[in-house]
Parts: sequence; C-alpha cells; structure tokens
Amino acid sequence: MLFFIDTADINEIRRALSWGICDGVTTNPSLVAKTEKSFSQIIDEILAEVDGPVSLEVTATDYETMMEQARTLHARGENVVVKLPMTPDGIRATRTCAEEGMQTNVTLVFSPTQALIAAKAGATYVSPFIGRLDDVAADGMSLLSDIVEIYQNHGFATQVLAASIRHPEHVADAARIGADVATIPIGVLEKLFRHPLTDVGLARFMEDAKRVPGLD
Ligand code: E4P
Repeated sequence: MLFFIDTADINEIRRALSWGICDGVTTNPSLVAKTEKSFSQIIDEILAEVDGPVSLEVTATDYETMMEQARTLHARGENVVVKLPMTPDGIRATRTCAEEGMQTNVTLVFSPTQALIAAKAGATYVSPFIGRLDDVAADGMSLLSDIVEIYQNHGFATQVLAASIRHPEHVADAARIGADVATIPIGVLEKLFRHPLTDVGLARFMEDAKRVPGLD
C-alpha cells in the first residue's frame, strides 16, 4: 500500500519524506490556497523534491480548458498526475489524457458508479472521499470496499486512492479493505507512529539502560 501526503505545504512534504514512508503527494485548490503562494511556485517546490506521483488539479470545468491545463501540468514533470473532477467533461478529459499518455486522478468520487465510470475512462487513480462521506453520516469505508470489489470483479487497472482521511483508523481500514493508496494529512501521518505503550516501554528501556555499564 502506498502512502501519499495530502498537502501543498513543502515543509510538511519534507517532513514526511524524511521518514522514508511517503510515496507521493496529492494537492487540491483548497490546499494550494492555504499556502498563500502561486501555483507555479508550489509546483516547482514539490517537483524539485518528490520523485513519486504528484497530483495537481485542473481548475477549469470545461473539457477544452481542462485539456489545456492538463497538458501544461504534464509538461512540468513526468511524475505529474493530472487531477480531474468527476464530471462528464472531467471524464472526457480523463479519457483523452489516458490516450495521450498522461497519468490521471479522478477526484470528488462519492459513489460506486462514479468510480466505475472513472475506471472505464482509463483513470490511473480514483479518489473516493471517505471523511466527507462520514461527515454527512454516510459510510465512507463501505464505499471504499464497494469500489475495491468492483475493480477486482472486472479487472480494472485503476488504483483506488483513499482520500479525505481524517484519522488513523481510516488508514488501517483502507489497508484492510485493500485500497492501493491512502493520501494522508501530516497530522494523521504523525499519529500513525504513536502508541502510549511504545512511549512507556521506551522510557523504561532508557531508564534501565542508564544502569548498565557501557550502555548509557
Ligand atoms: C484528495 O486528493 C483531497 O485532496 C483530500 O483528500 C480532501 O480531503 P478533505 O476532505 O479533508 O478536504
């Protein structure tokens, strides 16, 4: 299972990369806006340090402008994944991107049929938004499970990318269900390391080590 970091903040990306467990990056216009930098500067910063897949989202809603933006984004780096919305124009653009050899990530997916359409269009990744479904008292994990099953049943190559992750249990559930990727905010990534028994155990080992000649 791959871990991507869900951010446009280069310092968060650097921190995640330093742990050696971060395989790529996803961004969206809201994450980009939070940095208060230009999109172009953010792309330069991220692509200078990340070799894995980097999802960069188009901001157009019509097919022609989406394709212009997709080609511009793709030209910035071979590891750029063009992120497209789950709309008829977005799906048409996904198909064209696939034909032109671009990687794509279909975003804002909230139903099994949307995921089916994304796979049929040749998307590289599909992004079901788990947390946003949970926020409205729907079951994000059940959607993830449906998508994994549908893709397995029909042999689709599209990778299931669990998005809108809110806490470590989402990551564990996504892994158990068989999602190919989870894109995780820095705060949740940090929490994945932690367990109170690890802290207690380590404190005791450190104390005991002080009593051993040559170990302190
Ligand atoms: C996915 O690619 C999105 O950037 C992201 O996971 C959305 O998460 P949110 O619901 O926390 O905004």
